[in-house]
Amino acid sequence: MIYLDYAATSPTRACAIDAMNDVMRHAWGNPSSIHEEGARAKAVLEDARERIAAILGCRPSEILFTSGGTESDSTALFSAAQAGRRAGRRHIVSSAIEHHAVLRPLERLAANGFDVTFLPPDRDGAISADAVRDALREDTCLVSVMTANNETGVIQPVREIGMLCRARGILFHTDAVQTAGHLPTLPAEIGCDTLAASAHKFGGPRGTGFLYVRRGASLIPLLLGGNQERERRAGTENVAAIAGMAAALEESVRAMHDEAERLAALRDRLIAGLLAIPRSVLNGHPANRLPNNVNVSFEGVEGEPLILLLDERGIRASSGAACSAGALEPSHVLTAMGQPPALAVGSLRLTLGEDTDEDAVRQTVDAVRDVVARLRSQSPDWQAKTAGERAFLLP
Ligand SMILES: Cc1ncc(COP(=O)(O)O)c(C=O)c1O
Repeated sequence: MIYLDYAATSPTRACAIDAMNDVMRHAWGNPSSIHEEGARAKAVLEDARERIAAILGCRPSEILFTSGGTESDSTALFSAAQAGRRAGRRHIVSSAIEHHAVLRPLERLAANGFDVTFLPPDRDGAISADAVRDALREDTCLVSVMTANNETGVIQPVREIGMLCRARGILFHTDAVQTAGHLPTLPAEIGCDTLAASAHKFGGPRGTGFLYVRRGASLIPLLLGGNQERERRAGTENVAAIAGMAAALEESVRAMHDEAERLAALRDRLIAGLLAIPRSVLNGHPANRLPNNVNVSFEGVEGEPLILLLDERGIRASSGAACSAGALEPSHVLTAMGQPPALAVGSLRLTLGEDTDEDAVRQTVDAVRDVVARLRSQSPDWQAKTAGERAFLLP
């Protein structure tokens, strides 16, 4: 099996499994209990918080544990919007290429009286900091732009955007789910007020994550109930998963620089191999993208059958975001980049990771070439184009 869907989720690291087992056996108490079992769990929780904060270069009190990227995003966005409303500011700037974990909450806010500007990316999939600056208004209360896109891997100019927001006193949230553990992701360097991350993208367990909340930034809780997480997120913490997340993040960050270099070389080889297939196009900037991301569209091929046939050959891939796989809508990211729907439904996302090697790249290129040829041979549209009855979209 060749796993090339690391952006959807990554295999759990052995160190994370060991840490989780250990907590479930020996520190299973409720960290809010004041007896010894509680104290033991509390110590694990605070140790994980300190280790994650050390990696982010922030204070432990700035780390809020959540159930993952989605909850972190919702918490940050609804909190900032509520604070904005109180101050009479109801304008939000974001981008059209955000993950649905950001888009859907913003759509909810738009339905509730907020004016949300969704900036389009350029053809290469990047949001421009100048466009953010031009979109800011007197009543802007929040800017939300991701560190890197989950479909194309394109890295966004979050530092510039952070500087702009800071200068104007506007809250800046960044969804760092795709970079945390993979590229330096330091809130102080980015200049954000809140930053979302998810453990399973860096070898931790699914269903846990964190939200960085800058000291001094107010946070209005999303979940109400007990007094956990300094009254900012109610609910008994998933101590085992949090311990697993801390171990996975440490291991991921330790290998980060070497791994980024190794993966970028494999990525470029994979891109070159796939683009040698006629009438194919790379989605997103060739260099300004995550070291592990390949996203290619093939004319005359739909994403879903492509993924299923690759799966039959033992290659795990995705078309667009994994979360929207199964839905035959063209990717909102590729559409926003100006890709015609016929190509936006045919995207293949391959995301590399620890287990990827040259052999996997070679086998994948061969398999994709075969599967694309097979699907094209069954496509009436492709046949009409080869017969010269219709024009090709791609050269
Ligand atoms: C950029 C981005 N944001 C948010 C999420 C949501 O994270 P989770 O599924 O862990 O809640 C994902 C997951 O794919 C993502 O890629």
